[in-house]
Amino acid sequence: MNVRAMEEADLSGVLGIERVSFAAPWSAALFEQELIREDRRWLVAEGDGRVVGFGGVMVIGGESHLMDLAVAPAFRGRGIARMLLWALAAASVDAGAGRMTLEARSSNAGALALYASSGLEIAGTRPGYYPETGEDALVLWSRELAPHVRAMEAAKVGEEVVLAIETSCDETAAAVMLGGHRLLASVVASQVDFHARFGGVVPEIASRKHTEAIVAVVDQALADAGVGFGDLHALAVTHGPGLVGALVVGLAYAKGLALGTHLPLVGVNHLEGHIHAARLADPALAPPLVALLVSGGHTTLVHVPAWGRYESLGRTLDDAAGEAFDKVAKVLGLGYPGGPAISRLAERGNPAAVPFPRAMLRSGDFDFSLSGLKTAVIQYVERERAAGRDLNLPDIAASFQQAVIDVQVAKTVRAASACGVRAVVLAGGVAANPALRAALASALEAEGVQLAVPPLDLCTDNAAMIAAAAHDHLVDGRFLGLGADAVPNLRLG
Ligand code: KG4
Ligand code: ZN
Repeated sequence: MNVRAMEEADLSGVLGIERVSFAAPWSAALFEQELIREDRRWLVAEGDGRVVGFGGVMVIGGESHLMDLAVAPAFRGRGIARMLLWALAAASVDAGAGRMTLEARSSNAGALALYASSGLEIAGTRPGYYPETGEDALVLWSRELAPHVRAMEAAKVGEEVVLAIETSCDETAAAVMLGGHRLLASVVASQVDFHARFGGVVPEIASRKHTEAIVAVVDQALADAGVGFGDLHALAVTHGPGLVGALVVGLAYAKGLALGTHLPLVGVNHLEGHIHAARLADPALAPPLVALLVSGGHTTLVHVPAWGRYESLGRTLDDAAGEAFDKVAKVLGLGYPGGPAISRLAERGNPAAVPFPRAMLRSGDFDFSLSGLKTAVIQYVERERAAGRDLNLPDIAASFQQAVIDVQVAKTVRAASACGVRAVVLAGGVAANPALRAALASALEAEGVQLAVPPLDLCTDNAAMIAAAAHDHLVDGRFLGLGADAVPNLRLG
């Protein structure tokens, strides 16, 4: 796909797309007048030797107005409209424009989604603007174009410097990353000690501790990286999923920084971040792949046909894997968080000592259920205590852990084969579990499938993974507007 200036010879192709795209299409004469005007920039996207999309702006008074943007129906959904939008933005900056404005039909969901995910925001409404239907026009505007164009250009050559912020759960984290995979600094302030005495994360405490820590954590990351705001190309922040009161602290702070510095803002899905952590250990890792995401809040299998595209294959119907570790640890009196404590104990135990259930092992789908296993452990412990027997904690820990691992490994191997992928990513806090890493590695090796796992310190929540995930957003021109809200149940894909 190639984007270049529109020429008269392109007009038949352009008009063909115009006619199928708009109720009141422009005529050839109108386009001819447009092409000779100094204050216009018209571009076409060319693929397979023909025009597959086009767009134009008018640059007046230091502002760019998007007049037309359309893609041939057979070529929609491939990012061509976004590519044209940002090529027009770059041409607008060259022509002296600061911001871009445009109108869109209030019913044009596809266009509105494109503009929203490019960081443009609704400035107002023009009631009844379209005479044929009486429909309203929404007026949208961008933030300053030049820093966005600069960040995209730097990302395309792998030289962007990004400050990322993560506050979705109980770690306040900031990182500085060069080119999407060269980590310059990563700071994680864990609140775990404040939550431990309650046996789990207390949302109100999480929110308050993020507020206390965020300024110092960001300052520390910048100092460690030896950069100032002037050296940055973009900011990235986790905008979901997670605890809403925790997410908003990082998001509000990032929006404030974006406003003050004029830097573009990228919104990253926390789970996308976890997947990208594996890319930091292995920059050559490439889709198509399957990711097993196992953390305190999530247990899900995702097919990743290309970076930025996520298709959920299945998920837990009740507890997340990390949650099961934490709850079982609580029952065994091991404290919070339970995962590390159980995996340490399990090293000394016999995984075959207690036959705990392997729920949904043969369910034929890619869903999980972990609450029955947790209940089975609780009932076993109660029975043993009632019978006056001493608990063999290492055996219980090892047997519980093995029950989790058996199902996770079997379903992941089957997902890799069903999707026909040669690579699997294991990510999320529970990916720090050495027995799970080893079991999955050997099962996949037998199938000739590569396993990528993040380095241990990047399995649990951090901002380096958010910065890594932000790279593709920048290359594509996917930004967050400053009016964006935290999305506690944000889905992948
Ligand atoms: O990804 P993460 O830091 O936070 C969420 O996004 O949830 O994951 C935290 C979870 C906790 O439930 C913790 O018990 C679990 O990851 N975890 C482990 C291990 N280390 C952390 N689970 C099993 N084995 C471990 N070694
Ligand atoms: Zn996480």
